[in-house]
Amino acid sequence: MKITMIHGQNHEGNTCMVARELANKVGGEIREFFLPRDFNKPCLGCYTCFKTDLSNCPHYRELEPLIAAMLEADLLILDSPVYVYHAAGPMMSFLDHFGTWWMVHRPLPEMSRKQAVVVATAAGGGMKSTVQDMADSLEMWGIRKVYKLGLGVQAVKPDEIPGRILNSIHRKTDRLSRRIKENAGRNGSNIRAKKWFYLMRFAQKHFQPPMEPDYGYWEKNGWHGKKRPWKQ
Ligand SMILES: Cc1cc2nc3c(=O)[nH]c(=O)nc-3n(C[C@H](O)[C@H](O)[C@H](O)COP(=O)(O)O)c2cc1C
Repeated sequence: MKITMIHGQNHEGNTCMVARELANKVGGEIREFFLPRDFNKPCLGCYTCFKTDLSNCPHYRELEPLIAAMLEADLLILDSPVYVYHAAGPMMSFLDHFGTWWMVHRPLPEMSRKQAVVVATAAGGGMKSTVQDMADSLEMWGIRKVYKLGLGVQAVKPDEIPGRILNSIHRKTDRLSRRIKENAGRNGSNIRAKKWFYLMRFAQKHFQPPMEPDYGYWEKNGWHGKKRPWKQ
């Protein structure tokens, strides 16, 4: 399995350790990117991507290696420590660049053959909101299955994590890696993305004037007719 990992932090701490444990249990060809080391640009809010194409983004040259690795991957793993109840800033800045990939704009059909995991560790609180910060994007990109792994580790570095919590991490990564391998090679969409696809399809067919370039992209893909992104 091809695995692309995007770490929302530069350091190899608790979160990176858990994400790597999971990736190694799934096994395959693993590529890793660290933020902000490998991409450090905040979205400029210029709307170039929405008005034209993501490839015209002023940051596209720096973004391109990460995009290529994500598109090649069967499994994406995004991870971030919990910082004040949310994902770390570099992760959010990175995800800001992919607004056009959301199901309500110009989703990529290849997302429907991918699985993804979002991983967050915290001392004790904020795991739910942090995994959701990352899952919001991956689900709305139309990734078939997005698993959430949020862990309270009661520690600031790996060698301080209590043994019973380490054991529970090992058990959870065992279980999740098995599920990922069992679910490999399928096509489909998560329910949230599907719901938004049909809402947007209705809006595009009934409200004028059509919003371009989204409308033309859907038309070209046949989504106003019988075709669907998760069946392409
Ligand atoms: C700036 C900052 C903010 C943090 N905010 C929270 C928080 O809101 N809730 C919490 O339980 N832990 C919080 N922590 C603790 C870390 O989330 C926790 O130790 C995490 O496991 C660190 O992961 P890392 O080793 O990958 O950096 C914070 C730590 C830092 C440095």
